[in-house]
Amino acid sequence: MQHVRVRLSQRREEYSIEIGAGTLSRLGDYARQALPPHTRRIALFSNRTVFDLYGDTAMRALREAKFKTSYWLMGDGERYKNLSSLKRALDFLSASNLERTDAVIALGGGVVGDLAGFAASIYLRGIAYLQAPTTLLAQIDSSVGGKTAVNTSVGKNIVGAFHQPRGVLIDTETLTSLPVRELTAGWCECIKQGAVGSRKLFDETRQFLLRESASEAGNKRDISLTKLIAAHCAFKARIVANDEREALERTDSRSRRILNFGHTIAHALEKVTDYKRFRHGEAVGYGMLVAGEISKRLGILDGFDLESLKAAIRLAGRLPHANDLRPAEILGTLARDKKSVGGHIKWILLERLGRARLVDGREIAPRVLRASLRAALQPI
Ligand SMILES: NC(=O)c1ccc[n+]([C@@H]2O[C@H](COP(=O)([O-])OP(=O)(O)OC[C@H]3O[C@@H](n4cnc5c(N)ncnc54)[C@H](O)[C@@H]3O)[C@@H](O)[C@H]2O)c1
Ligand SMILES: [Zn+2]
Repeated sequence: MQHVRVRLSQRREEYSIEIGAGTLSRLGDYARQALPPHTRRIALFSNRTVFDLYGDTAMRALREAKFKTSYWLMGDGERYKNLSSLKRALDFLSASNLERTDAVIALGGGVVGDLAGFAASIYLRGIAYLQAPTTLLAQIDSSVGGKTAVNTSVGKNIVGAFHQPRGVLIDTETLTSLPVRELTAGWCECIKQGAVGSRKLFDETRQFLLRESASEAGNKRDISLTKLIAAHCAFKARIVANDEREALERTDSRSRRILNFGHTIAHALEKVTDYKRFRHGEAVGYGMLVAGEISKRLGILDGFDLESLKAAIRLAGRLPHANDLRPAEILGTLARDKKSVGGHIKWILLERLGRARLVDGREIAPRVLRASLRAALQPI
């Protein structure tokens, strides 16, 4: 079992992330220790897919710790992370008479986590919640950091709040049932965190994937997976502690914005394919390759590091093809990305593996963008 503490800069609060194989069966004890002592009732939010797999274990653990429990299931998929699911979730909390001293637990991927966290942030002006993430992406990224949101017809995560969980309990065994594309998507986000934040984290991730692909992992697999996920959570926690609300004026290489590496292009790729072809993390895989190509063409990143980045993304898994997508169309959608501030895109580029640099979009010639797209969207 690994522990990571998240310290929040603005207040003197902190909470713990616990990571291990089979931890879900101890959810009740974990909740007792992480939630305020007066907590009586817990509403567990999940979806049918995840609840069928892990609902019994989670509910039993909560009952054994003497909580009064109820559960609410949302639709499975990004399209259900919307205002009408949010309304249903709030209606459920009201109908169950949850009080300010009660709590919500999110059991599922980032979709469940984002919606449950947002519902908890506004119900009775904010009640406590815990994250029990069950996808790789949610375990290393979305469950840590307190960003919660739902989508609207205008775009993704348009309505939301910063609301930190009281704790995060990660059961690495839940990843054994995760579809392979979801794993690939999660690994791409892991590679992103290493690429922008720490060469050591990048290397640890790549080595883990190398061992997995050579399937020599054997019994040691769980232990090193637990450690690797803990290292990713610690990295995310450090970034969050240092920049809890993603300050717009910050352009340094430790600001929360560096986590958007690969995301400018990823959002454009998702959009031009009508959100049907790529899992978000897969699109981030291509987005990192494009940002890497731009960095190299601007003379910021050396070719050797770009090759290592490509090799790591290859190890993450097979990405859907992208070589039929037109650079002009992709570039056309960029201007409308919300990561652009004041009408100008800030690109997160790489100086080297482990160090990001923010570059104003006006400093990058359109022909460099087009050439980088053409090079990066080829099968790798
Ligand atoms: N809040 C943040 O900081 C933050 C950061 C990154 C992403 N996100 C959000 O996260 C969401 C994506 O999350 P995601 O990638 O986890 O997708 P997801 O929640 O849709 O889960 C992917 C799929 O896996 C299934 N699933 C979940 N756990 C499983 C398991 N253990 N076994 C089998 N199937 C399982 C789900 O039912 C779903 O079909 C997006 O909405 C994104 O905006 C939020
Ligand atoms: Zn992402």
